[in-house]
Amino acid sequence: MVMPKSEKAFLRNGEQGIYAHVVGWGMAVPDTVMTNHDMEAIVETSDEWIRTRTGIAERRIASERDSTASLGLRAAQRALDVADVLPTEIDLIIVATSTPENIFPSTASLIQHRLGAVKAGAFDLSAACSGFVYGVEMATQAIRSGSIATAMVIGAETMSRVLDWQDRSTCILFGDGAGAVVLQASNAPGGVLSAVLRSDGSGADMLSIPTVGSEDLSNSYFLASEHRMFKMYMNGGEVFKFAARVVGESILEALEKADLTLDDVSLIVPHQANMRIIQSAARALKLDVSRFVSNLDRYGNTSAASIPIALCEAIEQGRVKENDNLVFVGFGGGLTWAAMVLQWGIPQGLEGYSGSRIKRQRRRAMYTLAHWRTRLLRLSRVINQFANRLLGRDEHPEE
Ligand code: COA
Repeated sequence: MVMPKSEKAFLRNGEQGIYAHVVGWGMAVPDTVMTNHDMEAIVETSDEWIRTRTGIAERRIASERDSTASLGLRAAQRALDVADVLPTEIDLIIVATSTPENIFPSTASLIQHRLGAVKAGAFDLSAACSGFVYGVEMATQAIRSGSIATAMVIGAETMSRVLDWQDRSTCILFGDGAGAVVLQASNAPGGVLSAVLRSDGSGADMLSIPTVGSEDLSNSYFLASEHRMFKMYMNGGEVFKFAARVVGESILEALEKADLTLDDVSLIVPHQANMRIIQSAARALKLDVSRFVSNLDRYGNTSAASIPIALCEAIEQGRVKENDNLVFVGFGGGLTWAAMVLQWGIPQGLEGYSGSRIKRQRRRAMYTLAHWRTRLLRLSRVINQFANRLLGRDEHPEE
């Protein structure tokens, strides 16, 4: 195998390389389906307009019981089953999301404790629809540096909760869902080969969800547009032009970094925003559109979740094979964009696929234990505070 440029830079003085391989994957979407016809009852639109301008036919909408963490948790549990990894083996959990449960605690921390991943660090990553690729690259670098061995990267969103349901040009585009991958260290070459991460904050006003800590909306870069606190605003036409340009460019850049060409690529898993953006990228790269995975007809744009969900479905459909070179490419608010090249395949020695029954049962037991551990810890804190007050003890004694 020819060593990509990024590899040569990484391996110094004949060191043995550490590679980050995807060994597990999983997805979760809410049960509720909202079709374009359902949308006609909410805003002035038509199934025909939405299909021809976007390629979307339906999307999933979170119920009151669903949340960004609950969808992310389900996707993560499925990814652990495929990888046959225990929650206690995870060193790092990254949740890419634009719809976190809170500003803090992070959605990643909520998922970490529900999994019972007691040895994992956890944080949320904000890079809008590019967030999943950013997250996989961060996890890869942590693995390749030797600092960690196992990471979980999740893209999870409840976009339906930040949509302006009176704005027909945005509310028809988005849906809810989550996807996750487990990455593990191995000395076998392959896995993530290269990545390009980019940002252009001058386009911040094109796609945004202002929140606490925001500048005065009437007195900032939001001026002259209809930005509203906690609601998504988008300049669709400008975002379309930006996306159509960066998808092709960043794919070529990531391939160059990996010393590969488009001929070496089996499948491109793009962010699922609009079928016309995918078609335009295919035209620019002179590729048949069948080389791109697309499932946005059924899910719409699920932001940071769209690439891992599309990946899971492509694997399920048998479109991803051992040693295939794949490309992930994302773009969105920031503006941000990112592309990544991976060589697919689970090296020998890493668990993957086997799904041993005993480990599966241990994982289930750990989830139950995590549930009760949290309850007990919270209860013990309440009892401690109560006892301290009763006994007149100072809860914060000076040193
Ligand atoms: N149903 C019916 N008509 C609609 C509509 C809807 N849901 N949304 C907009 N229109 C109307 C507009 O009001 C406009 O009417 P007008 O000509 O009377 O003013 C007309 O359709 C054309 O609007 P336009 O914005 O030019 O359409 P478009 O072909 O550019 O498609 C988007 C609009 C939003 C679908 C398209 O710009 C897009 O997909 N952009 C990228 C968005 C994206 O992917 N964002 C996420 C990135 S992560």
